[in-house]
Amino acid sequence: MGTDENRQTQRLGAPEDFVRDTWYPVLESKRLGRRPVGVTRLGRQLVLWRDAQGRPVAQDAACPHRGADLSKGRVVSGCLECPYHGLRFAADGACVRVPCEGSTRPIRADLRVKGYVVREGLGLVWLWWGEEREELPPLPWTHELPDAGAGSCTATLTWNVPFARVMEGNLDLHHFPFAHRRWAPGMGTLLDPYTARLEGDTIHTHGVLRRDDGKPWDGRSGFEAEIRVLFPHLVLLRFGSFTQAMAAVTPIDAESTWVVFRYRSSLPLLGGLVAWLLVQSEVRLIQPEDYALLRDSEPRHPAREDFHLVRADAGIALWYRLYERRLEAQRRALPSGEVVQRAVR
Ligand code: FES
Ligand SMILES: [Fe+2]
Repeated sequence: MGTDENRQTQRLGAPEDFVRDTWYPVLESKRLGRRPVGVTRLGRQLVLWRDAQGRPVAQDAACPHRGADLSKGRVVSGCLECPYHGLRFAADGACVRVPCEGSTRPIRADLRVKGYVVREGLGLVWLWWGEEREELPPLPWTHELPDAGAGSCTATLTWNVPFARVMEGNLDLHHFPFAHRRWAPGMGTLLDPYTARLEGDTIHTHGVLRRDDGKPWDGRSGFEAEIRVLFPHLVLLRFGSFTQAMAAVTPIDAESTWVVFRYRSSLPLLGGLVAWLLVQSEVRLIQPEDYALLRDSEPRHPAREDFHLVRADAGIALWYRLYERRLEAQRRALPSGEVVQRAVR
């Protein structure tokens, strides 16, 4: 038995706290090799591994035998072997070997590990969070989001900030000349024009940050940006004609969030370098400034009425409206209302 010193309590959240019936990225494909990987996503402690065909598998990390962490095990003959007593589980969750029982005794049928549907695309492993059904929708926005590979660069961040607050930050244009003033000296603070509209599950925003000269926009000056969000969690940013950026956001638990950033540049030859430089500046310079502000913003789990929103927050207002409606519908459908508190090592 270990000591309690490094045990911590994590507020995992109830299943209905996370927007359901959605594909969430949970890991970069390249991080999943021969060894199992343990991650917490959507309030579940998961083990990810690859079967004999190289297909990704996601299962609950706690071994159904006596609860050891399966992510500390190994993959043998296309099955996941628990590090504690060597029970082996197939990709479909069935236990296929119990070493202490030998090979002739039958294995009890309820000895199974719970699994999740996963797919791979755009250099990411995606997990279906929602009802399992015969026909699942395709991975979202695969034709819109920048792919991994040549001309792109990807980084991931783990933030002690709840999911909604991270999404709020991603839709925010008018913080830039203040929160990031070191990198944008002299940037205009007037957001005009600015539009935000909802089309299906997509929020489209377009805005120009410019100096307040008392005149209508001349169509040229200022910093022009377009942000689109596929509710709840995929963000696409466009500045200029050569560069695209995405943020894909997945709750780790009720209090923390995992973010994948990717830049892609279509500049001939130099695209990869440009994308790398942009990701470096994003992750090392810009994002730490956002993190410091979001981490300390109160309340951590706001409702729309906690805010006093202004015109430039219209995209954020749309996002919160969708979010609140969706969570309310989920809580009505799954009225457990219980927040899972669990001690984790
Ligand atoms: S706890 Fe996994 S095999 Fe015993
Ligand atoms: Fe920012």
